[in-house]
Parts: sequence; structure tokens; C-alpha cells
Amino acid sequence: MLRGTITIPADKSISQRALILSTLARGSFTIDNFCMSDDCLSTLQVIKSLGIEAEFIKDRTLKISNKGIKKPEDILQCNNSGTCMRMMSGVLAGQSFQSVLYGDESLSKRPMARIIEPLSLMGAKIQSNNGFAPIKIAGGNLHGINYTSKIASAQVKSSILLSGIQAEGKTIYKEPYKSRNHTEIMLKNMDADILTHDGTIEVKKSNLVPKNIKIVGDFSSAAFFIAAALVVPDSEIILKDVGLNPSRTGFLDIVRKMGADIEILDLKEDNGEPCGDLKVKYSNLKGITVEGEVIPNAIDELPLVAILGACAEGITILKDASELRKKESDRICAITSELRKLGIEIEERDDGFRIDGRQKFIGGTEADSHNDHRIAMCLYIAGLLCSKPIRIKNFKCTSVSFPEFESLIKSLVK
Ligand code: S3P
Repeated sequence: MLRGTITIPADKSISQRALILSTLARGSFTIDNFCMSDDCLSTLQVIKSLGIEAEFIKDRTLKISNKGIKKPEDILQCNNSGTCMRMMSGVLAGQSFQSVLYGDESLSKRPMARIIEPLSLMGAKIQSNNGFAPIKIAGGNLHGINYTSKIASAQVKSSILLSGIQAEGKTIYKEPYKSRNHTEIMLKNMDADILTHDGTIEVKKSNLVPKNIKIVGDFSSAAFFIAAALVVPDSEIILKDVGLNPSRTGFLDIVRKMGADIEILDLKEDNGEPCGDLKVKYSNLKGITVEGEVIPNAIDELPLVAILGACAEGITILKDASELRKKESDRICAITSELRKLGIEIEERDDGFRIDGRQKFIGGTEADSHNDHRIAMCLYIAGLLCSKPIRIKNFKCTSVSFPEFESLIKSLVK
């Protein structure tokens, strides 16, 4: 069982945004409770290569000074981070120098046409490897566009908003469903000219004003503990300081619909981001269909639904989630193939999966993380349910988002 109280480390998406937006905000500010994951450290290195000064003045507290963004001397290495590559492209589209963004093997296979197309329409000159990294950007002289995205992606939206605040005229952005809105919240806090109404966002050329920020805990990291406590009998845990922005907490809506016993204690707000403590108890879950507008608000947590579905009573179906195939790995293929190795029957579908409940996790074998941090952590949770121990190949990739994962979960398992 899992018992005890832990504090969830800082949100990766918000930490990265604090760094990325700092490149457009002259002056100094501090980031308190920074997320020390590999993705955030990659973004930190990228902004330093652009002449932004950054130093840790305390454990997890960064002081940032922007005395003007400069042409980098070398390529910008985003490593595994799609947020870094896509959002930095939006920043660099507005800069009159040339820069080149690289990614690791996984990031180099992820689609970049989704940002290259709108940023080119705004006037940036972009070359790529047929829509994939590396991306070479010669920016400057942007003009606003009226753009309707076919996908609900916060990375695409943020990229366009960041070039929009550097462009002449107005930029209008619409998305099919609302994706996470951390960029909009931070832009507002930094005095940008931004309006949001009925799913449309409008920005105009703005000078961002640096503001000190304290980062809330990462809901996506909390989700692994929520799932574990829900399925491991007799569990009861408290997760402190979890970010609860509704554009991120689709997974809470999903598990509550499945019958989860979760209480929110002590709801507060930090820099416009809601946060609170969560009390999660082992629950008798029932199968549901997960589809539609909840998908972008639970996108990184959806592989966990397969584990919950295997434990619940009845059938669980995931639909409308083909974007999962374009993440750090093909997460539909990864979670279905690896759960099968642990003894679970699950049907892979183009846009999700179908799974019968009340199954037995067997294990006694090696499962492959596909070098994807979220798949590695899902498999760890599945391992807690297996009757025989499992090994997870390349488990250390968890440091991409959550280096503290293993020690925190071990502290709760009794
Ligand atoms: C992120 C947005 C999501 C998410 C990713 C982080 C962000 O991607 O999957 O892990 O920081 O904006 P999309 O919004 O592109 O689906």
C-alpha cells in the first residue's frame, strides 16, 4: 500500500515558460521552486546560449537577468524537449539573427510543420529537414495572422503567441479545444497586450515586464501517485502543492468519473495558477469511455488510463487521442505493447485503446520504457501491481520530467 504525505516538485511546463518568456523581458527577476528536470535544464542552457544570464542563488531558486538577447555562437540543443523547440521557435521567429535548433533522436522524429507553417505565414524564414528538426530560423519583420489550428496543442499556440507579441498588427489564434493556458496566464502577468475570449486569443506587439514567480507543483507528476494510490489496495496519500489549473486537470475529471475518492484540501493561487493539496484513497473504479475535449487537458496522463482500466470493473475505452502517437514515443503503441508483456490484454486502436477490467498483472519480465519518461513511470506503477517483479529498460529517462520520482514513490510504498 501507499501511505504518507509528499510535496510534488515544480511544474515542468511552467518552469520552461518562465525561462522562455524571460528572453523577451529585459531586466531581472527570480524563479522560485524551479523544476530541476532534464527538459528544464536543456531550456536553461538554450536561453543562456542566447545571452540571458541565469544563476542559482539558492536550491531551486534562479535569478535571471536579460540585458538583451544575442545571436548564439553555436546550435541550440533542445535535447528531448518539444516545449523548448516549439516555443523557442516562436521567440526566434521575431529575432533578426539566424539560429539553428537541434533535438535528440526522439525530438528529431516529432512533427515541426505544425509550427513552421504558421511562423512562416507571419514572415519568418524557416528551413527544416522536411518538417522535422534541425530547424534553421532567420527571423524578424513579423506581421500578425489570424490562425485556426487543427490540433489543440499548447506548444503550437504558445509558439504563435510568442511570435505574435513581436509582430506588427494583431495575431488571432483559435484552437479546436482549449489546451493548457500557462503561456496566456504568464503573458498577462508580464503585462503583455493579450485578450482571451470564447476560445480565441488575441495578442499585439508587447514589451514584457519581468516579474518574480513561484512555480506550483506539477499535476502531471502528481498523476502517477494519484493513479498508484487509486489502484494499490489500502492506500491513502496526501500530495501537497499540486498545480490545479483546470486546463491541466482533465485526469482528475476522468478518475472521478471512474469513481475515485479524491479530496482537494486548501485551494490557493500562485501567480495566477491555482494549486492545492490532494488526498487520494484506494477506490473501486469502474470503466468509462474517455474522449473529446478532456483529451488535451489530460494529454500526458492518458497512458495511466490503461492501468486504471485494467483494474476497474467493466470496459475502458480511450478515443480521439491520436496525438499520443506524436509524443516522446508513440505512447499508444508503447503502453499497449508493454502492458501486454506484463500479462494484460489490451486492444490498440488508431486513436487510443480498449481494455477489459479486473485483470491480473503478472510481470516477471523486462518492460521497455521506449526511452520515454512518462512510459517509464507508468510501468513502475504497473510493476506495483504485478505478482512477480519487473525490470524497466532505460528507467533513468524519468529525469526528463521528474528526477525525484523513484525516491518519492519508494518513500510512500509500505
Ligand atoms: C506541453 C504541452 C503538451 C504536453 C507536453 C508539454 C507544454 O503538448 O504534451 O508534455 O508545455 O506546452 P501539446 O500541447 O503540444 O499536445
